Amino acid sequence: MSNSKFVCASSLVIFGGTGDLTRNKLIPALCRLKAGKSLPENFHVIATGRNKISQTELINLYRDSIAGKLQSDSVLANGFELLMPQIHYIHIDPSEDNSISEFMQTLKSLEGSGAAPARLFYLALPPDSVSSFLQLVAAPLKLGSCSNCPSRILVEKPFGNDLESAQLLNRQLLEVAREDQIYRIDHYLGKEAIQNILVLRFANSIFEPLWNRSNIDHIQISCAERKGVGTRGAFYDRTGTLRDVVQNHLLQVLSLIAMEPPISHNSENIRIEKQKVLKSLRKLDPESISKYTIRGRYTTAENSHEPSYLQEKGVATGSTTETFASMKVMIDSWRWSGVPFYLRAGKKLSADMTEVAVFFKQPPGNIFRAESDKNLSNTLTLRIQPDEGIHLSVQTKVPGMSLKISTEDMDLSFQKSFGLFRPDAYERLLVDALNGDQSLFIGKNEIDAAWQFIDPIRQAWDSEANFPIFDYIPGSDGPEMAQEMLKQDGRTWKSLSKKHL
Ligand code: BG6
Repeated sequence: MSNSKFVCASSLVIFGGTGDLTRNKLIPALCRLKAGKSLPENFHVIATGRNKISQTELINLYRDSIAGKLQSDSVLANGFELLMPQIHYIHIDPSEDNSISEFMQTLKSLEGSGAAPARLFYLALPPDSVSSFLQLVAAPLKLGSCSNCPSRILVEKPFGNDLESAQLLNRQLLEVAREDQIYRIDHYLGKEAIQNILVLRFANSIFEPLWNRSNIDHIQISCAERKGVGTRGAFYDRTGTLRDVVQNHLLQVLSLIAMEPPISHNSENIRIEKQKVLKSLRKLDPESISKYTIRGRYTTAENSHEPSYLQEKGVATGSTTETFASMKVMIDSWRWSGVPFYLRAGKKLSADMTEVAVFFKQPPGNIFRAESDKNLSNTLTLRIQPDEGIHLSVQTKVPGMSLKISTEDMDLSFQKSFGLFRPDAYERLLVDALNGDQSLFIGKNEIDAAWQFIDPIRQAWDSEANFPIFDYIPGSDGPEMAQEMLKQDGRTWKSLSKKHL
């Protein structure tokens, strides 16, 4: 990360400046960047929102949202003090007349005179609000500011609600900006352990010969969280786990795990290979959807005062939105023919963890059968978070006079090898956007291909009156039926709370 390229960038304008994402992710990331001197000098952050609040109220809102972290993280606290004087608030309601001219006037007066400003516009908004804000950014994006550092627009996931709305949004974006000015965010791509997937696969020659249907039995990709929907009930109820996490984070991870080697480590070449995987996902017909997908919703634990999903603030009465999704996905390609990818994601589960577990096949013959009937397969686990690392389970002789076989782990822990590593996902992505590097942002075609796979599932879940939604107890690994789906294939989910095998 060098800050030499974005010297002319003058401001980051956040639409949705008082929302959950801005308070909990963007502001902490900006504070850490500020503390690490990774933001341009004279850089302003301009938060916008429909609420009429003062700058002091905004700063108090930010401080309250991350109060706990500010106490325990001195870098964050230092960055907060440095950044707050450079934060401003503009009240905007795109439906009001004069909103565009007032917005531009205030923006200019905050930035002052000087070199042509290069602005970063961050649409931290739910998908259905994005298009109404595009008119506000049309003029500054077209002006393009200076040629080395054009204004850019960042769009948060989920990108649209389905294929049709995503395509419409893309057309609307392209009316106001060039493709090289559009940054579609999936923050998972900014995570260190996700970026390491390509390094593991393509900078080590030992894995590639094994990475196919001949050696791999199946792959599990899990993204579990202990927390519930919290203050995001209204957004979540319109979105659900399928759109919130599966369509983007999980399918992005799947595409990195399953893709062919790109011809170089360049954003365009990587996007081409990811897109091929997403296009090869076998579409599920209604019968397969009922067999191979499970949706769930958290209830409340016995004697607990915590709300069930249906009692959360902002959730509609009688809602059928899922807080857990799991499915069996097949990729129709020579490499992956017959290898199931099992995906699961959910809230209020037994652990906070995201990982990929690659289960290799058993040896073709077992010469130790007489001594042990143990399962002899190996598992490669890529721990995305927390405790980022790589673990390979291997069979080992237990020292002693008799032959006993034990499954042990070969561990690589990022923390042990590299100490405290930075940057976190949003820090990395914000700096890349300032620098004009699109490598860790998603291409339009990937988004379309992901929706093409997800849409039939969403439609079946939404429209089939009888499509069941299974309750699960907070702190569990999700509904029993998710276990059942794997049992029918003679497999089991790895326990969420178990670190290694
Ligand atoms: C977001 C989802 O994209 O990812 C949230 O909207 C989810 O619902 C979050 O909690 C998980 O991200 P992370 O980085 O905490 O794993």
